[in-house]
Amino acid sequence: GAAAMGDYPDFMAKEIAEQPEAIERLLKDRLTPKGIRLDELEMTDAEIAAIDRVYIVACGTSYHVGLIARSLIESWARIPVSVEPASEFNYEDVLVSDHTLCIIITQSGETADTLASARKMHAAGAKVLAVTNVIGSSAAREADGVLYVQAGPEVAVASTKAYTAQMVASVLVALFLAQRNGSLGYREVSRRFRELERVPGLIREVLARAWQDEAAAHAFIGAGSSLFLGRGLNSTTAAEGALKLKEISYLHAEAYPAGEMKHGPIALIDPGFPVVVICPDDRVRYKTISNIQEVKARGAVVVSVATDGDQKIAQLSDYLLMIPPAPEYYVPIVAVVHLQMLARYVALARGCDVDKPRNLAKSVTVE
Ligand code: G6P
Repeated sequence: GAAAMGDYPDFMAKEIAEQPEAIERLLKDRLTPKGIRLDELEMTDAEIAAIDRVYIVACGTSYHVGLIARSLIESWARIPVSVEPASEFNYEDVLVSDHTLCIIITQSGETADTLASARKMHAAGAKVLAVTNVIGSSAAREADGVLYVQAGPEVAVASTKAYTAQMVASVLVALFLAQRNGSLGYREVSRRFRELERVPGLIREVLARAWQDEAAAHAFIGAGSSLFLGRGLNSTTAAEGALKLKEISYLHAEAYPAGEMKHGPIALIDPGFPVVVICPDDRVRYKTISNIQEVKARGAVVVSVATDGDQKIAQLSDYLLMIPPAPEYYVPIVAVVHLQMLARYVALARGCDVDKPRNLAKSVTVE
């Protein structure tokens, strides 16, 4: 069937490898001479112009997608966005009205907390868009519009290809809203879409560098804890990398915005402590390099995600996870693939079942 493991050693390996094709499927025929085609949203120009706030609600890995989506929607479509874990949103006094667009992001479409959020939003008059992977799921049936991410069945409990496909879906939503409310013109939208079409190829390059992750896994084998650092969009990449590592290797990992490290987590660092730093070639690179120097000076084992050719970071790091140059706003989709492979290698080295980690379920259908 569609979910057979084939020649792969585990479903996680298979699903990591499937990411480029999943994204290609999602992007197919999305750009037309009129701009991004997203008929799923079923909203008129007047309704889109009236949106004064977006709420994104999700759980787990899908919540991390929401954090990325917030930045893209705010900077491209210029609409204020709140992102909440569904289990918090459901008990909060939220500012939802009939001018609110609510986006629920859920791979399975069955997470109970997320479904409860969708109902709460509906009751308050908001329009609900579901971004989901599962056709005919509860989320798909209950929402006003459904954007299927088309990643194919995801079997491994820890989400990989649904994460990247959901991020790409979020890019499409952000471009669509920006174009329809006039924040971005056709030229800008099509340029960003063309750049997005390069992402599958960039991920293929990262997949071919799995040996870098296999080598870096050594930094974690005897460790009791670890720290993941990044800035901006990549503070979310750090959060997702730490979550993957925790989920499947049972090694404690804490993610922090790199600039906040000095207010606490730096106290954790002692010789041999593994620190993963996401430091691509972007406008905050030099700031993050100073964080690498700070942890290095305290004896950390530094694993850096950096852009090809970055000699400075190469000198400061014990292990390098290199990514090809990529547009700044798409780096999270490319860089996370290294962190997925890293988590998998650490889990295998620690003798864990990467597809079925203890205590976790693929979808949590209780609140
Ligand atoms: C569970 C899974 C996670 C997933 C989360 C949300 O906790 O173990 O991998 O991210 O549910 O699932 P959803 O299907 O709503 O995206």
